[in-house]
Amino acid sequence: MTEEIRKGLAGVVVDTTAISKVNPDTNSLLYRGYPVQELAEKCTFEEVAYLLWHGELPTPVQLEEFQQLERSLRRLDARTKRIIDELPTTAHPMDVVRTAVSVIGAVDPDAAASDPASNLTKAVRLFAQLPAIIAYDQRRRREQELVEPRDDLGYSANFLHMTFGEVPDLVVVNAFDVSMILYAEHSFNASTFTARVVTSTLSDLYSAVTAAIGALKGPLHGGANEAVMHVFDEIGTADKAEAWLDAALAEKRKIMGFGHRVYKNGDSRVPTMKAALDTLVAEYNRPDMAELYETLEAAMDARKGIKPNLDYPSGPAYNLIGFDTLTFTPLFVASRIVGWTAHIMEQLESNALIRPLSAYNGPDERHV
Ligand code: ACO
Repeated sequence: MTEEIRKGLAGVVVDTTAISKVNPDTNSLLYRGYPVQELAEKCTFEEVAYLLWHGELPTPVQLEEFQQLERSLRRLDARTKRIIDELPTTAHPMDVVRTAVSVIGAVDPDAAASDPASNLTKAVRLFAQLPAIIAYDQRRRREQELVEPRDDLGYSANFLHMTFGEVPDLVVVNAFDVSMILYAEHSFNASTFTARVVTSTLSDLYSAVTAAIGALKGPLHGGANEAVMHVFDEIGTADKAEAWLDAALAEKRKIMGFGHRVYKNGDSRVPTMKAALDTLVAEYNRPDMAELYETLEAAMDARKGIKPNLDYPSGPAYNLIGFDTLTFTPLFVASRIVGWTAHIMEQLESNALIRPLSAYNGPDERHV
């Protein structure tokens, strides 16, 4: 039998999903049928999280109930804080987040329960706790005290309050909220597929999320938003961008924040995130950042015809807001926890163990 090998599972359809639809031909991304651009314009991240988990946008009463629950779960558990305190500040923040999620799973007496209600409870708990973990980790690296959450603030305002000790202007909160909405879900990407593989063995939600965090960390996936900022730092100013790019391409370097496995003609999320970045550029009066962004984008298009992905505008946006570069990929985790957990629950609705085949190309049978 000759097997067709699809390296990287490129172009392979492995299952159905009702959570999101990526259409590279029309350059569209739908969450449960709604265009992501429309959700970013008209909804908050909390509403979008509810939509992705439940299939419908919340009614005002449902939203109120969800917000009350989420706000009640925001405080960092003492055990999680202690474990974070034990970790060196030289650890990558993604390793801290991965460890913290593992701890939350280890202390949850219902960790093994996998019915839909239990899994939704765990999903909301992680959704509520991740901002506290990420904010605290950045603060301890800066030798700053933990800032307790504020129950009178929405998700994004509270996240920024816990990170920086104050709530920034509304335009900043809104730009951050847009980034959370855009990162929340993207069908069978590498980390979501990882979560589904782990779930397919009937392992628990925390194990699946921990594995997904590991997959997201890589620079070909979520780690690219951090890597974009290293590129910006390396280039310095817009006038150096073209020469930098020519040298990088001559060395056959992958340019972080460009290219996509599915979108070959531009990432559907980029225009919305670029608009959010533009509001931040105006807010912080940093036209130099926009100039570098646009010069590198145009040069990459001219040289390779490769367009930016979502990590390209989100990296500089998080920089302007004030996050440390190493914290950018954990912010992706805080958002994508929604997509991962929605997929974990969907996988369990009609589970089949995910176990592909391989074509053996080692030595012929031989004997000791
Ligand atoms: N820089 C330079 N060349 C690139 C880039 C890039 N960023 N992306 C693709 N190419 C080139 C490849 O070298 C290849 O050229 P070749 O045919 O001459 O060998 C061609 O375009 C096709 O690229 P592939 O690597 O086959 O495309 P694939 O679908 O496997 O890769 C990926 C997609 C991994 C995202 C790739 O574009 C990449 O490495 N980008 C940089 C990392 C990045 O930004 N990742 C974020 C992904 S999106 C997200 O997580 C939100």
